[in-house]
Amino acid sequence: MASTAYARGSKPPAGPGERRQPRLAKELSRIEPKKLGIGLVAGCCLALLTYISFARLFAIYSPVFESTSMVMKNAPPASTAVPSTEQAVPVQKKVEVEEQKDLGGGDAEPKEPGFPQETKIDEKAETPAETESTEKEETAVTKPDGGDKTEEAKAKMTCDENAVDEGFPYARPSVCELTGDVRVSPKEKTMFFINPAGAGPFDDNGEKKIRPYARKDTFLLPGVVEVTIKSVASPVSAPACARRHDVPAVVFSTAGYTDNFFHDNTDVMIPLFLSTAHFAGEVQLLITNFKPWWVKKFAPLLKKLSNYEVINFDKEEEVHCFPGGQLGLYRDRDLIIAPHATRNPHNYTMVDYNRFLRRAFGLPRDVPAVLGEKTTVRPKMLMIERKGTRKLLNLPAVRALCEQLGFEVTVAEAGADVRAFAETVNAADVLLAVHGAGLTNQIFLPTGAVLVQIVPWGKMDWMATNFYGQPARDMQLRYVEYYVSEEETTLKDKYSRDHYVFKNPMQIHAQGWPALAEIVMKQDVMVNVTRFKPFLLKALDQLQD
Ligand SMILES: *[C@@H]1O[C@H](CO)[C@@H](O)[C@H](O)[C@H]1NC(C)=O
Ligand SMILES: *[C@@H]1O[C@H](CO)[C@@H](O)[C@H](O)[C@H]1NC(C)=O
Repeated sequence: MASTAYARGSKPPAGPGERRQPRLAKELSRIEPKKLGIGLVAGCCLALLTYISFARLFAIYSPVFESTSMVMKNAPPASTAVPSTEQAVPVQKKVEVEEQKDLGGGDAEPKEPGFPQETKIDEKAETPAETESTEKEETAVTKPDGGDKTEEAKAKMTCDENAVDEGFPYARPSVCELTGDVRVSPKEKTMFFINPAGAGPFDDNGEKKIRPYARKDTFLLPGVVEVTIKSVASPVSAPACARRHDVPAVVFSTAGYTDNFFHDNTDVMIPLFLSTAHFAGEVQLLITNFKPWWVKKFAPLLKKLSNYEVINFDKEEEVHCFPGGQLGLYRDRDLIIAPHATRNPHNYTMVDYNRFLRRAFGLPRDVPAVLGEKTTVRPKMLMIERKGTRKLLNLPAVRALCEQLGFEVTVAEAGADVRAFAETVNAADVLLAVHGAGLTNQIFLPTGAVLVQIVPWGKMDWMATNFYGQPARDMQLRYVEYYVSEEETTLKDKYSRDHYVFKNPMQIHAQGWPALAEIVMKQDVMVNVTRFKPFLLKALDQLQD
């Protein structure tokens, strides 16, 4: 966890005239001192840092910081806010979901565990080796003396708490799985677990506490509701059931960086998919740090994963009983789902996630157009435009070049309506954008489509690769990256060519996030179309297989 210390060494400076939500301000002030302290430590260790694996250092960066307005946003975006009357979600009302079969054990979309090989080969050079220690504690107990013949007699709990992914310290959140009599009392923020033998990774009070947000980030976790699993010897010591469910409960949080589209996926939706898809809808979701607008925004996906109305864990009054449950969600690196015996026993891949998204949003295209000598079809390109930082200043010239090469070009800006934009992306064969959270939209591309990432100046290889390039390979997309030269960045208007910004960009990284945010993240680019052309030809070429 030490490396996450650098993670939020400092919040990005607020832009002029920017006004935070009151609640947000409060939260920031609460964690500020801690950040300051860490900032100091980080400053002192600057020299040392250069010797630490850069991956480790970089693991801290996150596309959420691209825009200062996105930091720890808790308020709903105006456009998607819903009236507060919708906050109270009716409990346990079965919702109609068509076409549920393609999840988990369904037959429509058979799982193909074979995908992993191809995605992992050339990764080693760019990403740190995953040194990992998984500690799974497990307890399986059968009630003695055979008095109880019901299924609840078997109590079992496994927790995955101490796993480490060196380069990605946040990628191994704590998760506990329970089998047996589980009684969820949201009012007490507690999951009572009837556990006659009392064995398990509990403290002296028979408790296990987890903040169930799927990003183990020391700066975020204090804002996540802490939920307790309480081991009790018999049902007498647990609250009585007001509602009984015959499906397992999954309790998780939507705190943190949600509403940044990258984090919506990496920290919640992909973990949720990874953790619950195998239930094929037969699972009850309970959400804490409940954000009605967020739940509404992702309703099509939540409905695809669960046949039951989501329960607002923050508001629910009654005790709900389940034959099992899970606290927290499994996750992997960003926009990546790697094989793993215990965290991914169903062998899901990002390709499965992509297919899940297409089914949930009703996106028609599973494969891109295949270009051949005989076909007259024009490949479709979507250029995602950025309006704030890292603008493509000569977008019209780049567009003209693309059209000249035969692309049918659409320029769009990612908006609040996820489904509408997903459709726009799914219609494309090639997605082109400057490095930024908008590239997350690659998840909606047809499998086999091409992603073109324009990487701004400043030695951004690690971020470009790990946030978007490697995920593209993981999704079986074709991937082309274009690194802008000194000539193609507006940084040349601000810094002389012998400044370290050009001579040794790693020096910017060594200063930590504030410097990166201020220098690298704020540049705009003007792509030299002569230099760029071969990369577009490569993209075209890859559609001709
Ligand atoms: C997942 O992959 C492992 C290793 O290849 C295999 O043993 C296991 O049966 C697979 N599980 C499923 C659910 O396909
Ligand atoms: C654009 O790139 C080409 C090919 O690399 C190069 O010859 C030319 O000088 C560049 N133009 C500018 C204005 O930098």
